Amino acid sequence: MSTGRVQFSSKLGVIAATVGSAVGLGNIWRFPYEAGTHGGGAFLLCYILFVFLIGVPTICAEFTMGRASRVGIPGAFRQGHKSRKWDVVGYFGILAAILILGFYAVVAGWTFEYIIESVLNAFKETTPEVRHEHFESFISGWRAVGWTILFLLVNALVLLGGVQKGIERVSNILMPLLFIILIAFCINSFFMPGFDQGITFLFHPDFSKLTPDVILSALGQAFFSLSLGMGCLITYSSYFSDRTPLVKTAFQIAFLDTLVAILAGVIIFPAVFSFGMSPAEGPTLVFEVLPGIFNLMPGGMVWSTLFFILLSVASLTSLISVSEIVVAFLSDEFKLSRIKATMLLTAFTVVTSTLCSLSFGPLRSLNLFNIFDYVSSNILMTLGGIGVCIFVGWKMRKCDSLEELHNKAGIPIWLYNTIMFIIKYLAPICITIVFIAGLI
Ligand code: PFF
Repeated sequence: MSTGRVQFSSKLGVIAATVGSAVGLGNIWRFPYEAGTHGGGAFLLCYILFVFLIGVPTICAEFTMGRASRVGIPGAFRQGHKSRKWDVVGYFGILAAILILGFYAVVAGWTFEYIIESVLNAFKETTPEVRHEHFESFISGWRAVGWTILFLLVNALVLLGGVQKGIERVSNILMPLLFIILIAFCINSFFMPGFDQGITFLFHPDFSKLTPDVILSALGQAFFSLSLGMGCLITYSSYFSDRTPLVKTAFQIAFLDTLVAILAGVIIFPAVFSFGMSPAEGPTLVFEVLPGIFNLMPGGMVWSTLFFILLSVASLTSLISVSEIVVAFLSDEFKLSRIKATMLLTAFTVVTSTLCSLSFGPLRSLNLFNIFDYVSSNILMTLGGIGVCIFVGWKMRKCDSLEELHNKAGIPIWLYNTIMFIIKYLAPICITIVFIAGLI
């Protein structure tokens, strides 16, 4: 079905935009501290297993829905039947997107501050206590709110450019840049005294560390990192052409996203060990520990600046994709123009992200930042993931999934059957277990 819907104009555009969505704070900020606090190698092993066993088939399920219907959510849940019963799963996705935008924009805004501070060499000869105090006082004030709003305005500019001239063009430039910066860091990491220790920590699984908590965190991280369970990939695939091979693209995205997470580990852990720090610092690892480490390195100011540019590039392309879920929803369902939809969403997000940002200061008792993060990542994304798998596995007509995944993608029928088996049984069961365990 080729409606008049706009499409990405090239293969590179499809990969750059979708990988741009997947690669974000989740890979460079969240993955290292999750791996660091959950035992390194054991976490990585579970993570990789989940990405390829459950993640890739779930990406295929979202792609199937998006391209077959050529609308975002909740419209994609209406294809092939008349009832609106499934709309609720779509609305969960919209709500998840709104909540994620609220807290994601805040951390993305911090990266701007840290770029400027790196350029000004502000971390030179600071102690961990000074950096901690500095970070705490920065995130609790209005300056952080200012950066968040600026980030949202940049995001809005890209969205206003549209799918091809905005999202695709920016991703085509930023994604190669991101990989170049990553490679430069890896080469530098190789020469660090703590390289071997860092690599052993990341790649040598210590199975005694494999607890239920580690397994749960690994699945949650896989979902967040692959942008699954909230309609993001449904929305992007509604812009794919009929020639885009869905299964191959799903594998490519999973591979590149995992590669970036691993490279982030290869960059961060050797640095952490080289300077005698602990990898289990938690969420402040990137903002408090790394600037200190950079300053002990030759050319530290350049590395520090490059690192926070890397982080802001990664955040921007992800933030764009979360926003596009809502922009597409407002355009598809309410026929709003792209300009109106973008302005409405940006105005709304300025309010929610300001509240999230102030959760570190005057609104500490409300702590919306943590509530938004918890509800979207742990509840809505998991429910959305289960919903997508059940919809594609049980509700969608088989001829549609066969057409999208087998005929157009050109994969052998056994692979199609395997993917559908996972979508129907394995994925919903595994995700449900995680969901219940997470709630307990
Ligand atoms: N995958 C992004 C990251 O790893 O930072 C976060 C994200 C983007 C989650 C888009 C959900 C989404 F729809």
